[in-house]
Amino acid sequence: MSATPQLAGTPVLILKEGSTRERGRGAQNANITAACIVAETVKSSLGPKGMDKMLVDSLGDVTITSDGHTILKEMDIQHPAAKMMVEVAKTIDDEVGDGTTSAVVIAGELLGKAEDLIEKNVHPTTLIDGYRRAAEKALGTLEKIAIPVKPTDKEFLKKVAMTSMASKIVAENREHLADIAASAILHVATKVGEQYKADLDDIMVEKKPGESLTDTKLIEGIVLDKEVVHPGMPKRVEDAKIALLDCALEVEKTEFDAKLNIESPEQMDAFLKQEENILREMVEKVSNAGANVLICQKGIDDLAQHFLARKGILAVRRVKQSDMEKLAKATGGKVVTNLDDMTEKDLGYAKLVEERKIGDDKMTFIEGCKNPRSVAILIRGGTERIVNEADRSIHDALCVVRDVVQEPKILAGGGAPELEIARALKNYANGLPGKEQLAVQAYAEALEIIPATLSENAGLDPIDILTELRARHEKGETWAGVGVHEGKVMDTKKLEIFEPLAVKKQIIKSATEAASMILKIDDVIAAGKMKTPSTPPKGLPETGEGAGEFD
Ligand SMILES: Nc1ncnc2c1ncn2[C@@H]1O[C@H](COP(=O)(O)OP(=O)(O)OP(=O)(O)O)[C@@H](O)[C@H]1O
Ligand SMILES: [Mg+2]
Repeated sequence: MSATPQLAGTPVLILKEGSTRERGRGAQNANITAACIVAETVKSSLGPKGMDKMLVDSLGDVTITSDGHTILKEMDIQHPAAKMMVEVAKTIDDEVGDGTTSAVVIAGELLGKAEDLIEKNVHPTTLIDGYRRAAEKALGTLEKIAIPVKPTDKEFLKKVAMTSMASKIVAENREHLADIAASAILHVATKVGEQYKADLDDIMVEKKPGESLTDTKLIEGIVLDKEVVHPGMPKRVEDAKIALLDCALEVEKTEFDAKLNIESPEQMDAFLKQEENILREMVEKVSNAGANVLICQKGIDDLAQHFLARKGILAVRRVKQSDMEKLAKATGGKVVTNLDDMTEKDLGYAKLVEERKIGDDKMTFIEGCKNPRSVAILIRGGTERIVNEADRSIHDALCVVRDVVQEPKILAGGGAPELEIARALKNYANGLPGKEQLAVQAYAEALEIIPATLSENAGLDPIDILTELRARHEKGETWAGVGVHEGKVMDTKKLEIFEPLAVKKQIIKSATEAASMILKIDDVIAAGKMKTPSTPPKGLPETGEGAGEFD
């Protein structure tokens, strides 16, 4: 239908000029196609044998990754329905950290199957209801088959971390990195009632290209990518009493222009002396509080640095606010905003503060903090790109370990849970009336895309594998899945491909929500593009006289 319906021969305009509107089947098809293209893009990167993507941004910066969320984020997608898929990936990444590719691939498949059914005159609302029911049933099945574990069993947590890294570039070093991720989370986990809680914000992650991934280290304390400000300062302080400062150690500049008339050299001298005294006093205050280390969020004047060095105080400046908060938590100190208020009570404590040379740069390590729960991970690797991908992979690993610590239930992967759900759903669908049955069946088939894609990416025949998998699940082999390295159907529990229940549940929830949301749209009304100020209105010359008027 057009945006300008005729009313007794007179067109009634309800939308602004330039707006476009698409309704009904046309709108649905366009949205579904866009979302499916997004799913198709990330599909080839699923699983340990998945491929990586190289993304080049408008400035020419290159990212190489197989992380679903990163791929979609860097792709700079324009289509509104496709953007919804990107949001799915983001939600998953924020909530559970892993499983972004799976969720997008499943959402795409749910939409593809929906399109077929819509063609057969199943109404989208019936489909959405069917999908919702199927998702509920799927979540129930996952809970039922999940294996309970001990939340503090490090060996187990390591295996979960290793599965999440199996599909990344860093897979070769995953044993070492998984060990670090599991130790880090166990370090920061606290028991609340019967459950454990772990906050990723308590783990600091710093990266520095150089050496190799095996040199990545867990540090019991904090690492700052900053050097000690003055060569005369000590580079190593034991039994450190740390002052955390949020104001500059500089003479304040006036906010307005001021004019000072100096008439004699003595006056000049007195003026400079005064500035020097202000800085000296500031340093005195730090020293009087008993600090031997100063960590400052703002700048430190050259002269103040000199005075601090004379007092034997190690100082670091321009530290990020987020790092200051972590430092306060770790050392038990308080970030002081006004130097006059600083007392001994505000100081934090660490056994050792030391500047060390890492690659070409110097970094400051704060170890043996008052709060033993503060840890940092220092990522090393051959090139900047490896270090960045390692950072993303460690993030995934930390997330999955946290997920298991907080909800100690796991599943074996390789497509086994998806097939188990599909089997349960097919049985369930048989008892449903009418067209909802078709929707639930479609949902079951859509989930089979995970084992199918895992096989396809590993160069196996997805049809052979799926047929065998279905048969074995029918026989009661809950954990029959794709052994991608072995090239055949295997018991993935025996292969120890463990994944958190929380991740699989979130995949189901997010994929269903995204598919339902896109299916529910039958009308796309888009405003016309805003005119950019630099393009002159039609009919005016691009250059020359008159062109500037519209700038
Ligand atoms: N050794 C293995 N054999 C078979 N399947 C595996 C193996 N290791 C992992 N998998 C499977 O690979 C899938 C995960 O792949 P991948 O990590 O590429 O995607 P994702 O976790 O969905 O998304 P992302 O990690 O990009 O956020 C899971 O289904 C998992 O069970
Ligand atoms: Mg993953």
